[in-house]
Amino acid sequence: MQVKRKMLAAALAGLTMSSMFWGLAQQPATSAASPQQPDPQQEPPRRVGGFVPGQKRAPIDPAMVAKGKTLYGINCQACHGSDLRGGDLGGPNLLRSQVTLSDRDGELIVPIIQGGRQAQGMPAIGISIDDSKTVAAYVRSVIGMIGVQGTPPGEQKPLNIVTGNAHDGQTYFQATCARCHVSDLQGIAGRITDPKKLQETWLEGGMRSAQGPAATTTKATATATITPASGDTIQGTLIRMDDFLVTVRQPDGTVRSFRRDGDTPTVSVNDPLKAHKDLLSTYTDKQIHDVTAYLVTLK
Ligand code: HEC
Ligand code: HEC
Repeated sequence: MQVKRKMLAAALAGLTMSSMFWGLAQQPATSAASPQQPDPQQEPPRRVGGFVPGQKRAPIDPAMVAKGKTLYGINCQACHGSDLRGGDLGGPNLLRSQVTLSDRDGELIVPIIQGGRQAQGMPAIGISIDDSKTVAAYVRSVIGMIGVQGTPPGEQKPLNIVTGNAHDGQTYFQATCARCHVSDLQGIAGRITDPKKLQETWLEGGMRSAQGPAATTTKATATATITPASGDTIQGTLIRMDDFLVTVRQPDGTVRSFRRDGDTPTVSVNDPLKAHKDLLSTYTDKQIHDVTAYLVTLK
């Protein structure tokens, strides 16, 4: 295969997402949120901290959730944390946020992603409205999972996520993925037997999914080399970069940020998963289902 492997010894705590999605369900959110004002136009106010999942909200397609989770890992996690409870770069806990608890279809979260809170310290995140909605769906799904706590077992049916068409998935794979993955994914379904984990793995390109015995060991991470006008060159794992700031974690674990002013300092990024990140925005739900259905056959 043509893919370049890059293993980093550094502890990538901030970038490793791990499968928080299920882990979160074990920890009920505390009810820090204040009661909502009743709105006569809407159904009765929701119970704070005691969501009834699915109630008045359309069920979210698992493919959308998986895609949203990956987008979250790329765009939000550095500030809001892998578990949504706040992160290295000072974003607030999104599990106790009145905004995320009240959001129905992105109408509250999307404007914030698009730049509505710049004055308060959250930059505009350069992703499309569609991707913003997908991230919002993921955030709601995490909150929904917490709500599932307390419902009797048996009411939670395990979802079958292998609903796609494996043949269409193979066609798509040949056209889109095979230039990098000629044969290296043979056997991947034997290695990652849980289809949900397999789906997350291919969406993310293996990063952050490493957890448990069936885990992939791949840790392809973006690194940045920063050369200030004066002073030593800094190299580290890229945590986040926008037009104004670049933040890296150095091999010793320290996090450093540099203000960017045009080309100063010089920043060169090496991201083996750039193609994966770019592709992410292009997948339809059907393509995600189909590719997963195909990969499941690669035992
Ligand atoms: C560079 C850091 C940073 C990044 C990246 C970032 N945020 Fe934020 N976010 C913040 C900060 C700081 C606030 C608090 C702003 C305020 O006080 O109004 C915030 C606030 C929010 C809020 C409102 C919370 C509330 O209760 O008021 C939401 C929702 C949110 N962010 C979602 C996201 C999502 C989704 C992403 C990724 C697409 C993201 N953020 C990326 C820093 C960040
Ligand atoms: C431009 C090259 C490129 C393209 C296109 C690409 N990938 Fe990847 N993929 C990578 C790299 C690089 C990795 C990181 C793995 C590594 O370092 O070996 C990766 C990792 C993966 C992994 C994790 C492998 C493991 O062993 O854990 C899966 C699964 C995967 N890709 C599936 C896909 C699928 C499905 C597509 C098409 C939708 C795709 N990739 C498109 C380059 C690519």
